[in-house]
Amino acid sequence: MLKVGIIGCGSIFTMHATSCDHLENAKLIGVCDIKKERADAAAQKYNVPAYYDYKELIERERPDIVHVCVPHYLHPIISRYALEQGVNVLCEKPMSIRYEDGLENVRIAKEKGLKYGIIFQCRYNNTSKLVKENLENGKLGKVISARVVLTWCKPDSYYSLSDWKGTWDKEGGGVIIDQAIHSLDLANWFINDEPIEVQAHLSNRGHSIMEVDDTGEGFIRYKNGATLSFWAMNNYGCDDPIEIRLLCEKGKVVMSYDDALITFNDGTALSTATQNDGIDYEGGKDYWGFQHIRQINDFYHAVEENRQPQISGEEALKIQKLICEIYEKGRWN
Ligand SMILES: NC(=O)c1ccc[n+]([C@@H]2O[C@H](COP(=O)([O-])OP(=O)(O)OC[C@H]3O[C@@H](n4cnc5c(N)ncnc54)[C@H](O)[C@@H]3O)[C@@H](O)[C@H]2O)c1
Repeated sequence: MLKVGIIGCGSIFTMHATSCDHLENAKLIGVCDIKKERADAAAQKYNVPAYYDYKELIERERPDIVHVCVPHYLHPIISRYALEQGVNVLCEKPMSIRYEDGLENVRIAKEKGLKYGIIFQCRYNNTSKLVKENLENGKLGKVISARVVLTWCKPDSYYSLSDWKGTWDKEGGGVIIDQAIHSLDLANWFINDEPIEVQAHLSNRGHSIMEVDDTGEGFIRYKNGATLSFWAMNNYGCDDPIEIRLLCEKGKVVMSYDDALITFNDGTALSTATQNDGIDYEGGKDYWGFQHIRQINDFYHAVEENRQPQISGEEALKIQKLICEIYEKGRWN
């Protein structure tokens, strides 16, 4: 049985704790949050000890794995501490705000022979898997051009009720690093090549209450000639389905959040929909999807089998580098 600790008992905690609870090879042994009431409530629900200091959880419980579910700026700090203590780390996206901090943790994990994974659960959607499969088996050919559109709604209260969202130092950005990161990761994963040119324009158009981007658009060119265009914004009136479209050598792909349709040039088609695996994530949000458990399951098996997790720190560095370049090019203040 793998001993698991979770650090951070905020809104995403439920996806991690519920997943751990459902997986047979792991057991939650402690939770931690600096907000005492959150740690206590989580501890009571799962009947495990509550900690208010992550170092104490690691020292007392000696977990095999910690899940890092805290604000962005703390991801590299807590991940690094855990890795240095010999603990495998599964961290929420993004791995860090600065690329160099993620890179350093990849180095430490490698040196220590530990597993370091970053959550990008959307890669586990049935839709994403179908598209990736048809790119890898050559049926779609290579991606020529991709586009990502995200139009979501984040009211002022989303920022005013948080002590870290909407700030450059703690969130590291807004719609790009927090929301669009998943769709940009998918598109980048589908294209699977090296970005050689990044153009971006970011702005804050509708949220004077906070300082980071609520709008971003840009263009990325890859070494193999593929291009990715994106537009993301948090000023719409509701969370509309994200749309990812791909023009490939042998067909076209339209992904609209829970549905994917592949139309091949020969007139045949394939489609699928993403579904919940039948688990009730109490308090989970629909737009997070339901696939945390699939990635967490892979990570636990990677630890048991001493192999790399499917989304390792090294793999996550690809999207981290791109996100950092988008901010470098597009940040206005
Ligand atoms: N994968 C996804 O789709 C998805 C969805 C939502 C959030 N997230 C990610 O999860 C992370 C947390 O987001 P959230 O929405 O749960 O935020 P949140 O603010 O609701 O929760 C963060 C928690 O961390 C706690 N915390 C802060 N400093 C701490 C410390 N030093 N030690 C222990 N606990 C500490 C806070 O008190 C808070 O309870 C973020 O990185 C976010 O990007 C991912």
